Amino acid sequence: MKKNILITGGAGFIGSHVVRHFVKKYSDYLIINIDKLTYAGNLENLNDIENLPNYKFVKGDICENSLIQKLFSEYKFEGVIHLAAESHVDRSILNPMEFVETNVKGTVTLLNAFKQHCDIDKSVFYHISTDEVYGELGNEGKFTETTPYSPNSPYSASKAASDHFVRAYHTTYKLNIRISNCSNNYGPYHFPEKLIPLMINNILNNKPLPVYGKGENVRDWLYVKDHAEAIDTVFHNGKNGETYNIGGNNEWKNIELVKLLCNLTDQKLGNSSDSSQRLITYVNDRAGHDFRYAIDSSKIMRELGWKPKVTFEQGLSETIDWYLQNKKWLENVTSGEYISYYSKMYEKYS
Ligand code: NAD
Ligand code: TYD
Repeated sequence: MKKNILITGGAGFIGSHVVRHFVKKYSDYLIINIDKLTYAGNLENLNDIENLPNYKFVKGDICENSLIQKLFSEYKFEGVIHLAAESHVDRSILNPMEFVETNVKGTVTLLNAFKQHCDIDKSVFYHISTDEVYGELGNEGKFTETTPYSPNSPYSASKAASDHFVRAYHTTYKLNIRISNCSNNYGPYHFPEKLIPLMINNILNNKPLPVYGKGENVRDWLYVKDHAEAIDTVFHNGKNGETYNIGGNNEWKNIELVKLLCNLTDQKLGNSSDSSQRLITYVNDRAGHDFRYAIDSSKIMRELGWKPKVTFEQGLSETIDWYLQNKKWLENVTSGEYISYYSKMYEKYS
């Protein structure tokens, strides 16, 4: 008998790496991926594993209680790894209610089904969250697991609310839970509305590279496959009720990172140096733009033995190569809805 594990949001960026990691590594698990296939969900992300016998896809909305109840009643999951979310800060500024729906209501719908149908002593409910729940840092310090929550965007407020619900279900109903709060991820299959893939896509299309404000904001970047390994580690070895911070110990000012992306991509394309940097365009700042994020990952490193394996140099190089080799994927995800979103955003910022 295989163990049934539910992964939500498995057709998105991080979710597709997590699904691939689990399906390939654990042949004794049946991995069920539920995804609504919003603009950010794409089954092309999973082409290479879609026919494996320990994988099954269900198209559906985590907010739809009847569907979720049916799924949990049928499979009696021994683990839930919950990644489905609206995930982009800029979109949360345009339309906060979608974030309340999926991130808060969707999470509580899953928690209720888990409570009702799963063996709460054995089964694990694992919520994948973000460092953005902690708010912003000044020039010094790092977020630890005890940093008070202080979210500043509708996105981070909705993720903070969902973290609180997961913790509250642990305290109140004794669910066996874990939460991890991770820093910014990058890598293949990243939707080109986020900084790194947006810049690569615009460099390839000779379009302006919109840097918000002065480009001085700082993010801590982690390669997505290192995050997938951390999720495997926390899922299997994390302690009930605990939170783990996950980060790359790899801080970059946005403007420095954009220049690095320009140089690396130019080198790979054989362009003269500086040919992409001339595309850099400073635009209006994002509303409520958090200045700096930085994660202290010492707890997961010390207690669970995880550490990132991929250097930034190696990860960025692999990421740019992937986009250069997957132009069809980029073309597909930047047609349709993306065109109207991008023009709306760019109008707002310029
Ligand atoms: P993503 O936007 O690429 O993917 C989200 C996926 O969820 C998509 O496949 C989408 O179709 C699906 N989805 C959205 N609403 C749904 C619904 N109502 N029902 C079912 N499926 C739905 O996001 P991502 O970057 O892969 O992030 C995954 C998770 O990791 C999120 O919970 C996010 O908050 C968290 N996270 C992301 C980062 C990051 O840097 N991207 C960092 C830390 C934490
Ligand atoms: P993003 O990838 O949206 O992640 P997050 O806001 O969740 O950290 O943005 C990363 C940083 O890059 C953030 O400081 C905002 C900035 N940014 C730009 O300067 N230009 C852009 O076009 C985008 C999408 C982001």
